[in-house]
Amino acid sequence: MKNDMPSFNEWDDMQQPERAADTGFDAVMSRRYFLRGAAMLGASALVMSAGVMPSIATAASRAGFKFNPIAASTADTISIPDGFVSQVVVRWGDTLNTSTPEFDHNTRGTAAVQAEAVGDNNDGMDMFVVDGRNVLVFNNEYTNRNIIFGNRASELPETDDDVNKGKMAHGLTFVELKETNGQWVIVKDSPLNRRITPDSAFEVVGPARGSDLLKTSSDASGTRILGTFNNCGNGKTPWGTYLACEENFNGYFSSSEGENYQQTDAEKRYGIAKDGKDWGYAWAQTDARFDVSKEPNEPNRHGWVVEVDPAGRQQPVKLTALGRFKHENAECVIAKDGKAVVYLGDDERGEYLYRFVSKNSYNPQGDNSTLLHEGELFVAKFNDDGTGEWLNLKDAGMSADETLVFARMAASKVGATTMDRPEWVAANPHKVEAYVALTNNKYRGEKENQPLNAANPRAKNPYGQIVRWTPAEEDHAADKFAWDMFAMAGNPTQHSDLMAGSNNINEDNMFNSPDGLKFDSAGNLWIQTDGNYSNAKGFAGMGNNQMLMGDPETGEIHRFLVGPKECEITGLTWSADRKTMFVGVQHPGEKGNSHWPEGGNAVPRSSIVAIKRTDGGLIG
Ligand code: FEO
Ligand code: CA
Ligand code: CA
Repeated sequence: MKNDMPSFNEWDDMQQPERAADTGFDAVMSRRYFLRGAAMLGASALVMSAGVMPSIATAASRAGFKFNPIAASTADTISIPDGFVSQVVVRWGDTLNTSTPEFDHNTRGTAAVQAEAVGDNNDGMDMFVVDGRNVLVFNNEYTNRNIIFGNRASELPETDDDVNKGKMAHGLTFVELKETNGQWVIVKDSPLNRRITPDSAFEVVGPARGSDLLKTSSDASGTRILGTFNNCGNGKTPWGTYLACEENFNGYFSSSEGENYQQTDAEKRYGIAKDGKDWGYAWAQTDARFDVSKEPNEPNRHGWVVEVDPAGRQQPVKLTALGRFKHENAECVIAKDGKAVVYLGDDERGEYLYRFVSKNSYNPQGDNSTLLHEGELFVAKFNDDGTGEWLNLKDAGMSADETLVFARMAASKVGATTMDRPEWVAANPHKVEAYVALTNNKYRGEKENQPLNAANPRAKNPYGQIVRWTPAEEDHAADKFAWDMFAMAGNPTQHSDLMAGSNNINEDNMFNSPDGLKFDSAGNLWIQTDGNYSNAKGFAGMGNNQMLMGDPETGEIHRFLVGPKECEITGLTWSADRKTMFVGVQHPGEKGNSHWPEGGNAVPRSSIVAIKRTDGGLIG
C-alpha cells in the first residue's frame, strides 16, 4: 500500500455494493438544462406561471471585491493576485501549549503529542470572538497514512501508539490566534486552546436520544457517545455555536469476523464493514467499539452533526434531529418566521440534499441552545422543469428514531432526487437563495438508480456543477422552490458539448469538482475545489486545486487562489474586522509530491493560511 492509500471515494467503490434501487422518482432527462441567462429566464417564466417565485430581491450593496484573476498553476505554492499577501498561520502538528514538543519531521510525533497539537487535514472552520479573543475552530477530517506513518517502511500504523496517533489526528481543534506586527500567531497555553477527539464525550439530543439503535455495552441508555471523527464541512449558528459534520464515518469500522462478516441492509446502504474491513486506520485494534461484531450499534452513533461551544462552556452534543448520513456541511439560516433552517448535503454518489426546519423560533436575546434539538427533516426533489420541493421524511412510514438513524433509507422512500454528490451548501446573506456544490459523479447515467435529470444532466459527470434554488415566498421554511444552474464546470478547450460547461466557464476560469462554498459578508460566493489536479486531458489547463469568486448577480467567476501540489482547498472564514481571510489547504502532497509549506525535504502539512490586502482594506 506504499503511497497508495485510496481516496475515500475509491475505497467506497471497493467496499460498497450496489445500493437498493430508489423509488424510481427521477424522471427521464428532458435534455433541458439551465445555463446562465436562459436559466434565469426559464426559471422566472416557469415560476410566474406556478405563482411561487418571489420577486427578485433588490441586490444588496456589495463591497466590490476587486482583484486581477490569476492563471491556473501547478507550482508547489500558494498563488494569489497582486495586491494580496499570504501567511501560514496554523499547521498540522503545531502544538497548542509550551509543554508539548514541536512537530518532529522524522517521527511525526506520538499519540500523546498529537492529542495536544493541531489535528491533521483541516477542513471546515469558523472564527469566533470569545471574551475579546479570536478563537479559530476547525475540523480535522482525516489523516493520510502515507504521510503520518511515512516514518514506517509500510506507511501503515505498526504499533498501538501509531494507531492512537492517527486517531488523535482526527476531531476538532480550537486555537486562540492574535495578530502581532501584521502576522497571525497561535497564543500558546491559552485556556481557549483545546482539542475534541474521537474519544471526547458528547450528549445525544433530539428524537433519537435513548433509542435502542444507539445503545452499546458502554452506554446502555443510548444517551452518551464518545467522539466525533471525519468532520468535513461545518456551520456557524447565529447564536455563536459551531457545527461540525461527520462525513465518511463508515470507514472506521471493521469486524473481527473478517471476510465472514455479514452486513445488515443498513450497513450496506451506509458502506460499513464490507468483508469486515475498515479504511486502514485499524482503530478496532486499540478500541473494541470499532469492531462491529462486538458493538453492532456503534456505527449508528456516528454520521451526525455535532454542536459545540467555541468557549467550551456547554456540553458538546450530537444533533439527531438533523439525520444520520455522510454530512458535508450545515448551513444555518433564520427563516422569515424565525425558525432555524439548516441545509445539509450527503456526500456520496447518488445521495441527497436535506433541509432541517426547527420546531421553535430563534430568539436573538434568549437561549437558543436547544433550537436544533427538535424539528422536521426534509429531502429535496428537483423537477426537470425548474421547480422543486422539500419532502418530509416523516412520510417514509418509519419510526421516528429509524427515520433519523437511517435517514438515507427514509429519503429514498419519499422519492428524493439522487444528486451528483452534494457537498457544501451556502446561503446568500443578501437574498433568499442558496447554492449547493455537486462535486462530480462517475455513476450518473451509468447506474440504474442514478439516471440523468436536469439538475444532474451529464453522464459520468467528471466536472461537477453548482445548483442554486430560490425558496418560495422568500421563505427558507417554504416547501417549494425554483432552481437553476449557477455554473456547470467543464473544459471549453477540450469539449464543445455539455462537458464544456456553462456559459460562465471559460479558458481563464475553468476548474473541476466544486466542493467548499461560502458567502462573504459582501455577498460574494467563494468556490473551493477538490478535484482532479492532473492538468491533463479533460483537466488540461485547470492546474492544482483552487478557490474562485463567483458573482451571484452576474454569474461571473474569477480565480483568486491556487493551492500547492496535490492539495484540496477547503475551509474559509474571516477575522472579525474582515481584513483577513483564512483559507484551508488540505493534504498537500497526498501522493508524495509536495513539501509545502516548509519546502526542502520537509513533510508536507495541511495548514491554514491568512490572506490580506497589501493596502490593509477589507477582504470580504
Ligand atoms: Fe469531506 Fe465531501 O468532502
Ligand atoms: Ca468537502
Ligand atoms: Ca470533495
